[in-house]
Amino acid sequence: MAGYTDRPFRLLCREWGADVVVSEMVSADGIIHHQRQTLAYLEFTKGERPFGAQLFGSDALIMAKAAEACLGYQPDFIDINMGCPVKKVTKRGAGGALMADLIKAVQIVREIRRALPPDFVVSVKFRSGTEINHLNYLDFGLAMQDAGADLLTLHPRTVKQVFSGVSNWEHIANLKSHVTIPVIGNGDIKSVDDAQKMQNETGCDSIMIGRGALGNPWLFYQIRQAQKDNNQREITGDQKLDSLLRHLDYALQVKPERLVVREIRSHLCFYTKGMSGGAILRNTINHTDSITELKKILTEAFRQ
Ligand SMILES: Cc1cc2nc3c(=O)[nH]c(=O)nc-3n(C[C@H](O)[C@H](O)[C@H](O)COP(=O)(O)O)c2cc1C
Repeated sequence: MAGYTDRPFRLLCREWGADVVVSEMVSADGIIHHQRQTLAYLEFTKGERPFGAQLFGSDALIMAKAAEACLGYQPDFIDINMGCPVKKVTKRGAGGALMADLIKAVQIVREIRRALPPDFVVSVKFRSGTEINHLNYLDFGLAMQDAGADLLTLHPRTVKQVFSGVSNWEHIANLKSHVTIPVIGNGDIKSVDDAQKMQNETGCDSIMIGRGALGNPWLFYQIRQAQKDNNQREITGDQKLDSLLRHLDYALQVKPERLVVREIRSHLCFYTKGMSGGAILRNTINHTDSITELKKILTEAFRQ
């Protein structure tokens, strides 16, 4: 997720039991123009493996060149973003705009497939359609499979919906029953119950969690444990604090303190959501410039 699933957060999610993590979406144009900031999105550490690099773009040959360049970073797979609804992306014909251009979407997968070794995994992430009167996820998924995708992820909202309403998991079940390659279900999984329900209702091969992991990376552990014995695990304040401090330490390994203190605020908003005194806590955090001070505030707030 752009702005959130950076290296520190991905590592934390893996430690809490996520099987696979994916980069923030990376511009194919930025890669082929060797933009330093873009290339930095492709970096990851061993602890994050299996790691997927997600590309967005609209030109098949540029996407293929970018995918080839990605190999230098040795990701475990490449995911193609064909679902992003953000204007900045769709107005360039990329992300969700590709759902309205099946021919181009097919060309992109074919060219990327051609550019990569035959056994290298390529996945495609897309939505239910461009809008409610144009639900083409089934034809789209079948075409991606025919073009050479190894794996499909469906977020069953339309591009027009952005994040409004609820995701329609029936679309995941329907896609799963029509394609032969694995299908990952995504959309609105916020709890252990949601995860179990998604798997039972759709028969998907795996689930993908986005927003539900923000401020809540232990959700992966809770789901994994419940799969083993059907019991829900509470996470204590001390466990949360330990995780939060690790999040900060991982961030400090890749960025200077001044940036970490500022950038971690968006994550801390999620971590402190619903806590009593949360608003005051967030206000204090937002006025803190030192990591020592931040750690002290968090310790006082979360320690039990
Ligand atoms: C802030 C934000 C950034 C996102 N960035 C990406 C992205 O870079 N690539 C992507 O495939 N999806 C991105 N998404 C979409 C999520 O991956 C996911 O498909 C969507 O939020 C639905 O799943 P969820 O309910 O588990 O969050 C983003 C969503 C949000 C809210």
